Amino acid sequence: MKFAKLTLASDYKIGLTDKRIYGSFAEHLGRCIYGGIYDPTHPEADENGFREDVIKLIKELDVPVIRYPGGNFVSGYNWEDGIGPKENRPKRLELAWGTLETNEFGTDEFMAWCKKAGTSPMMAVNLGTRGPDEARQLVEYCNHPGGTYLSDLRKKCGSELPYDVKLWCLGNEMDGPWQMGSKTAVEYGRIAYETSKIMKWTDPSIETVLCGSSGWHMKTFGEWETTALDIAYDQVDYVSMHQYHSNADDYLENFLAKGVETDKFIESVIAALDYAQGKRHSKKRIDISFDEWNVWYHSNGTKFEKWSKAPHILEDIYNFADALVVGTMINSILRHCDRVKIACLAQIVNVIAPIMTEDGGKAWKQTIYYPFYYASKYARGYSLLGLCDTSKYDTKWYSDVPHVDTSAVLSEDGEDLVIFAINRDVDDTIMLETKLCDFEGFRPVEYVALEGYAADDINTKDSEKVVPVNKALPVIDGKMLNLPMKPMSWNMVRLSKKEN
Ligand code: AHR
Repeated sequence: MKFAKLTLASDYKIGLTDKRIYGSFAEHLGRCIYGGIYDPTHPEADENGFREDVIKLIKELDVPVIRYPGGNFVSGYNWEDGIGPKENRPKRLELAWGTLETNEFGTDEFMAWCKKAGTSPMMAVNLGTRGPDEARQLVEYCNHPGGTYLSDLRKKCGSELPYDVKLWCLGNEMDGPWQMGSKTAVEYGRIAYETSKIMKWTDPSIETVLCGSSGWHMKTFGEWETTALDIAYDQVDYVSMHQYHSNADDYLENFLAKGVETDKFIESVIAALDYAQGKRHSKKRIDISFDEWNVWYHSNGTKFEKWSKAPHILEDIYNFADALVVGTMINSILRHCDRVKIACLAQIVNVIAPIMTEDGGKAWKQTIYYPFYYASKYARGYSLLGLCDTSKYDTKWYSDVPHVDTSAVLSEDGEDLVIFAINRDVDDTIMLETKLCDFEGFRPVEYVALEGYAADDINTKDSEKVVPVNKALPVIDGKMLNLPMKPMSWNMVRLSKKEN
């Protein structure tokens, strides 16, 4: 057995978590929309064709915001194709993924679905094949109360009230050569500035997200952020980050360490944002929208019929190790909650997702569902700066990887505390000796763990094998709380001062 020490004090606050860090993402890609969210022929579909079994699971996850309609898809999307009578909507070749887009589901359906799913929309505009004009027209369609062609068109399409969409992404991954209409940082900075400007003239209450570089490993990373920001700084509110971790080389210890890269990536983006702010001597601070994050590699190379509707693509079936990595990514987001204000688990259903559906059958939970579920449910409040003294290990890619990765959140009323801890050690149990400096009157009320599974254990529609187990409540001895964490495990302990 190894030992690690965690020290927590209620005054050591990183910041208040923004509920939008529990966001997700729905793209017109594979079976995310068609077959996931929308399937009029499914027995669980409502009168709009929305799958109610999927909505039930999304409600359980309590997702406050969902990014739509892409992703790479948005860079070739004509939003006007997806409104009005369905029989008049055009079928199009969808070039980002090589599929057929029927446009049966569009902006109005998404807004109605968000309402039913208890979430709110985060819209992306097409800055690939289109530009500022179509973007400001979409803002007018969605948010203007009435009395103009576009706002009255929305009314004709069924919504008397404006949708009041607050968050808007200025394109998607615009530095990626795979993106329709990709751009240089200067080209993008200019179009993002002009687009955001007139979108905000249309509705001054909105916030916009500038595309950061599409990944930490891009040659453009860093330079892209500072160059685009130099041009667009005064017109935007957030810069995006996207990150997907992979275990394609089947190297478990290295894979489990990948959350370290999430920390480094976030901190590098913060450095770029602060550099841009310092350079222009601005009072305005730009924060991060981490609007695509997850593990993604299992489904790479899946074959499908070109130009088919809603093929089974990007359907990663997640294993136990993936759930641990997702847990470390959530910890990283929580530890940086003073700057990461929005984060979207990519995606919500079927496509690299916590929720899967069977065609015509049931909806079920992947392994990665659980770390997200528990964080969304309990980690809202003040993220605490925990000091964790743990043994470390090296891999081919990383040095000094902490065996234990933690986060802790104190509720706003100061009466509930949740601690998340991942033991990355594949061989040893680690006793996490947690010193609670000033949490008098708190007692443990729940201890759950994902533990004891093989790294490659998965859930399927017929057997949800990887599920959290309830552990015996630990006792507090003075200020000490000892958590025995099995090798390769995700652990959550909750403490409360409340009576029940
Ligand atoms: O989420 C899948 C894809 O990953 C998105 O379309 C794109 O933005 C990213 O490369």
